[in-house]
Amino acid sequence: MSDLNYIKKEFEEKFVKINSKNDLQNLKSEYFGKNGIVSSEFKKMGSLDENHRKDFAKKLNLLKDDLTNLIENKFKLIEKEEINQKLVDEKIDITLPIRSQASGKIHPVSQVIDEISSIFSEIGFTVAEGPDVESEYNNFTALNTPENHPARDMHDTFYLDANKKTLLRTHTSPVQIRTMLNGKPPFKIIVPGRTYRCDSDQTHAPMFHQLEGLHIDKNITMAHLKGCLNYFIKEFFEVKNIKMRFRPSHFPFTEPSAEVDIGYKLEDNKIVIGEGNKWLEILGCGMVHPNVLRNAKVNSKQFQGYAFGMGIDRLAMLKYGINDLRAFFETDYRWLNHYGFDPLDVPTNYRGLSR
Ligand code: PHE
Repeated sequence: MSDLNYIKKEFEEKFVKINSKNDLQNLKSEYFGKNGIVSSEFKKMGSLDENHRKDFAKKLNLLKDDLTNLIENKFKLIEKEEINQKLVDEKIDITLPIRSQASGKIHPVSQVIDEISSIFSEIGFTVAEGPDVESEYNNFTALNTPENHPARDMHDTFYLDANKKTLLRTHTSPVQIRTMLNGKPPFKIIVPGRTYRCDSDQTHAPMFHQLEGLHIDKNITMAHLKGCLNYFIKEFFEVKNIKMRFRPSHFPFTEPSAEVDIGYKLEDNKIVIGEGNKWLEILGCGMVHPNVLRNAKVNSKQFQGYAFGMGIDRLAMLKYGINDLRAFFETDYRWLNHYGFDPLDVPTNYRGLSR
C-alpha cells in the first residue's frame, strides 16, 4: 500500500512554495489530473481486499478533501492579492492640484456658443449640426429660394464646382432641411456653425458663425417666436428688461418675415444693451414658409412654426466689447489671452454665463 501520509507531506512541501495561479493549476493536475498521484491511488482501490479497501477509501477521501481545500483556499488568496495589487498599481491621485499656470483660453466664439446652447437647452431646444460643404439644393432650392435670387450670385456664394451644385453653405438654414428630412415633427433645434460668403471688411469676414433656430409643432405662432427671442436676449445679455422691435422684412424661406432690433445707448463710448433710443439689428426670423415644410416632407396643414438666424460673432462682439471682427480669426495669442475665457469655467444658467 502506498503511504498516504507520505503523499500528503510531499504535497505540502511543494504547496508552500507556490504563489501563482499557474503553478497552483499545475500542482492540481499533478495530483488530481487523469494520471495524477491521488487519482492513481483511487484506481488502485479495486485490487485491494475488502477489509483494507474500506479503511483505505476513507483515508484517501480525507486526503483528497484536505488537498482540494488547500488548493481552493490558496486560489482565492492569490486572486485577492492580485486584485489588491491591481488597485495599488492603477491608483490615480485625484487630489493633485492643477498646474497653476495652465495656459490656453477659450475663444469668445466658443464661449458664446456654449452660453447660447445653455440658454436654449433650458427651454427644450437641442443642438443639431450640418456640414460646411452643402448641396445647392439644401442651401437654396429646398429653402424656397428662386433660381434668379441675388443671394445665389457668384459674388456672394463660394461655389465648389463649375455646375454650381456644391457650395460652402451661406447660412445655417440648410440644417433645417436636413433635420426635418431625417426625423418626424415636432422639431425644436438650434444650429450653431460656420458659414461662408465672399465678403471681407471690418464687420464682415468670409467665414463667420451663425446660429439657426427652428421650432415646428402643432399650433406654433409668431407669439411663441417673440417670447422665445425675448427670453434669449435677456438671458444672453444678462439684463432684466430689453427693448425689442420686429421690423417687416423678406426671406424666401419664411412668411411673414421680420428683422429684430434691440435697443441700446452709448455711455462713455460703451454700448449698453437693453435701453436707450438707438437700435441694433441682430437677427432675421419668421414663420417657416409652407413650401419649405413641403420640401422637407412635413405636413404643412398639421404643423407649422418659426425659424430664426443670427450672427454669433456679432453677438460676441456686442457682449464682450470687441470692435474688430477680423481679430477673431487672426489667431493672435495676445488677443486670445485678453479676450479669451478660463477653460475650466463652463457657462451654465445657474452659476452665471459669464463672470
Ligand atoms: N438665413 C438667414 C440669413 O442668413 C437668417 C434667417 C434664418 C432668417 C431663419 C429667417 C429664418 O440671413
